[in-house]
Amino acid sequence: MSNYLGRDGELAEIGIDDVDVSPLEISADGDGRSADLAMARRTSLRDLERPPVAMRLGIFGTGYAGLITSVCLAQLGHTVTAMDTDAGIVARLSQGIATIHEPGLPELLRANLEAGRLRFTTQAEDAIAGSDIIFVCVGTPPRSDGRADLCQVEEVARTIAHQLDGYKLIVEKSTVPARTARWITWTIRRLAGPQHEFDVASNPEFLREGSAVRDFMHPDRIVIGADSGRARSLLLDLYKPRFDCPIVVTSVTTAEFIKQTANAFLAAKISFINVMADLCDALGVDVRTVAQSIGMDPRIGADFLNAGLGFGGACLPKDLSALITVAEENGVDIGMLKEVQRINTARADRLLAKIERALWIVRHKVVAVLGVAFKANTDDIRGAPSLTVVPWLHDAGANLRIYDPAAMPRLQALYPPDDRLVYAESAMDAARDANALVILTDWDEFRCLDLDRLRSVMRSPIIIDGRNLFTPTQLEAAGFEYYSLGRGDVTPRSDQQRGTA
Ligand code: UGA
Repeated sequence: MSNYLGRDGELAEIGIDDVDVSPLEISADGDGRSADLAMARRTSLRDLERPPVAMRLGIFGTGYAGLITSVCLAQLGHTVTAMDTDAGIVARLSQGIATIHEPGLPELLRANLEAGRLRFTTQAEDAIAGSDIIFVCVGTPPRSDGRADLCQVEEVARTIAHQLDGYKLIVEKSTVPARTARWITWTIRRLAGPQHEFDVASNPEFLREGSAVRDFMHPDRIVIGADSGRARSLLLDLYKPRFDCPIVVTSVTTAEFIKQTANAFLAAKISFINVMADLCDALGVDVRTVAQSIGMDPRIGADFLNAGLGFGGACLPKDLSALITVAEENGVDIGMLKEVQRINTARADRLLAKIERALWIVRHKVVAVLGVAFKANTDDIRGAPSLTVVPWLHDAGANLRIYDPAAMPRLQALYPPDDRLVYAESAMDAARDANALVILTDWDEFRCLDLDRLRSVMRSPIIIDGRNLFTPTQLEAAGFEYYSLGRGDVTPRSDQQRGTA
């Protein structure tokens, strides 16, 4: 049994008795332009019995989204040719060497290379010729004005336009501002001329770094934005026989906007709980207890209520900025999301204030920094708090001992070791003789630290926890001074400030 969501999220449960075949609903959006149609479709008995089709897929870009998409689609049985202009990346991937740290990726990469379903190339024509669907997974980094830089997307559109060899479905996977597909369409149409047939669709990804392979293989929902029956049908054939999850079939612009809205909402949820965390600090209340309790209400939901250093990474901050600029360009008051952004930027400052509160004078103090990745299970440091906290501590004169299970080489490339900056072999090694230990990433490895041993190797047992990995009572019992974000602090001088929640 599959579920389809029609326009406005209306759920259409599909059972084998349901043999309705045709599109149920087609209606224009507010501006009345036919290019932005919202469509709902129900499936048929024939659809459900259709065997999985193996397709030939071209993927442009082997960064985060591109690589995961390539490897997972190959794993589903499709034949995938992934193109990247970086010959070094292509060479490493072709040898089965994963270029990013992602659980499950190395195994799937090697297995699908060996099975002959996956190959990497620097030649665009390899990914275009003979492909049924071409996925655009290139980067859309932020510009200095906050807007998404779509140069790489345009470049792919131009390349495809010159090499069209029959009908192609071009699918946006990269997160792009709503209505980008129209620009892609116009670009290709202008360059390729009217004789070539193609469609541009949107199929946003909702993968999280650190669990991207699992997220791809077990999606909550699949969003297909397509304005033609042919495009819709191809994408349904690609996914439907292989996934038992709701599939939202909608217009291209709506699909683009769904992705931007999802990331903005996640960002808002995190900033909301972080403001509450500051209030909890002031009131002596534990924000984790508050978050767990409100999260039991299904209208609120328990996920994404971890207070701490806020959201980093390559997606949430960038997509939020891009959405804000889209709103401004359209004259919509987006003050709420600007506040979400402001609250997030202030998180690192709040941690730095706690470090100063704990140490008073930072100069000459040995500070262990645990975690430089923006989140656990990745080696990605883009938008990570470490990029603010490490230089600040270094400039303040601290002697830094840094450790991360996966991301150290990336930080090391920006901040090479010096007489006051050492990259340690392990968390315990980093903590040796430290006056304080600062936690910036929520790696499980840090949660499992032997606290007795940790206390014994440190010069003074002080932990400033930017991810709320421990509980104040646990750390107090283990003999630490403990500063976290939103649970009061365990200090020799302010026991009375902390609540017991
Ligand atoms: C995010 C979205 O979660 C994905 O659905 C989306 O596909 C992806 O962006 C994207 O657009 O490509 P990701 O950036 O990998 O995924 O990581 P998240 O798990 O969303 O975490 C983002 C940041 O928020 C991290 O810094 C994390 O530490 C922080 N966070 C997350 C919190 O501070 N509190 C929470 O409760 C959850």
